[in-house]
Amino acid sequence: MKEQSKATLSFPDGTAPIELPIYSGTIGPQVIDIRKLYAQTDRFTFDPGFMSTAACESKITYIDGDKGELLYRGYPIEQLAEHCDYLQTCYLLLNGELPDDEQRRDFENRVTNHTMVHEQMTRFLQGFRRDAHPMAVLVGMVGALSAFYHDSLDISDPEHRFVSAIRLIAKMPTLVAMAYKYSMGQPFMYPLNRLSYSANFMRMMFGTPCEDYEPNDVLVRALDRILILHADHEQNASTSTVRLAGSSGANPFACIAAGIATLWGPAHGGANEASLLMLRDIQREGGVERIGEFIAKVKDKHSNVKLMGFGHRVYKNYDPRAKLMRETSHEVLGELGLHDDPLFALAMKLEKIALEDDYFVQRKLYPNVDFYSGIVQKALGIPTEMFTCIFALARTVGWIAQWGEMIADPDQKIGRPRQLYTGHARRDVRVPAKRKG
Ligand code: CMC
Repeated sequence: MKEQSKATLSFPDGTAPIELPIYSGTIGPQVIDIRKLYAQTDRFTFDPGFMSTAACESKITYIDGDKGELLYRGYPIEQLAEHCDYLQTCYLLLNGELPDDEQRRDFENRVTNHTMVHEQMTRFLQGFRRDAHPMAVLVGMVGALSAFYHDSLDISDPEHRFVSAIRLIAKMPTLVAMAYKYSMGQPFMYPLNRLSYSANFMRMMFGTPCEDYEPNDVLVRALDRILILHADHEQNASTSTVRLAGSSGANPFACIAAGIATLWGPAHGGANEASLLMLRDIQREGGVERIGEFIAKVKDKHSNVKLMGFGHRVYKNYDPRAKLMRETSHEVLGELGLHDDPLFALAMKLEKIALEDDYFVQRKLYPNVDFYSGIVQKALGIPTEMFTCIFALARTVGWIAQWGEMIADPDQKIGRPRQLYTGHARRDVRVPAKRKG
């Protein structure tokens, strides 16, 4: 971060003006450093929702929302989705560079060695109701990892941090598949380490001990691509939660559990589930014919209805992940002979109508990654309530890379936002008068 110039801030009440340093990153908007503002002026800034606040410096992921560009460590997401697999992408996010052949083999071996979870975790899982939402189960299971793997919890030791990162990346598919199998009443499938990361996950999800499971290459590649596209997205709500939780020195498993809880909300990772449910509702009520009526509801401020899978805080253009996800939908539906899938046709029509509608044009609302990811996941056989778990699985590497970057930063401080207090000023409790005699 380089200081470029200074901004001068003046006040209407005679407080002396102050100079604030302006820094530039490699690309993206400059930032004004206000760290000394309170000490120098006795004032805070006010920015609910972090609309204009950079909460950290990072070298991991960059988004240009106007162009619709997403870079992991400088590489465009389109190139990574085409030329790399998920574990290479994980290596890149964690280490800053793509692995050479030897580094790749070594990383895959390390991940593979950690795919099993402590057998006692199955007992822990059995404490949940069978009809629990799998995200509720996942929050609990990932939080519980810190009770099972306390030999890697010294966050000041880089080797401990690395082992925790590997454990999380390796065990998430196993935990997600366990949550699914438990909800189905089927036996858990142990990981099979000769398979690739994504093929292994599909086998743990869809295989049973009764017969061999043969992963389909096109479907495995589609899942791997979903994982790459969701692997990181700079300082979104769940990643910021992980950083904030981690800033207090909490262990990485607890921090990632906090990230999973945040991801669950429908404005964030829960949107893929919400988006597919929305398409199903429109389909049930008459399909393409009802799009006009639905869009009218979305535009009505009093209806509280949103077009799920549309809009983004940062992208004011087509989300590049949504484009790739739409392509993947074609590949998967083609492979499965489902070209005429009515939900896919409905989604494409809905997208076209929305993109031509003034309401969406004026507000720069475009499809985001979740608009098509539900369709792909459904075609892969993943049930709707598991969609956000797949997102969590994929995002784990981003969370842990961001957490590691923060812990290694010598300037790191506990996160502690301030507030504009508008409640009562100091007042006294009214003591009832004592009753006489
Ligand atoms: N449908 C209808 N109107 C919308 C939508 C939508 N999906 N998204 C935003 N708007 C309107 C919003 O009502 C507001 O209108 P007005 O200016 O008249 O008040 C305007 O567009 C600006 O929206 P905002 O809510 O101020 O924008 P935000 O940056 O706070 O919210 C968002 C971003 C993603 C939460 C929001 O667009 C949304 O709720 N989208 C639907 C949920 C969704 O698809 N979420 C997945 C995000 S991508 C995956 C991830 O990163 O988790």
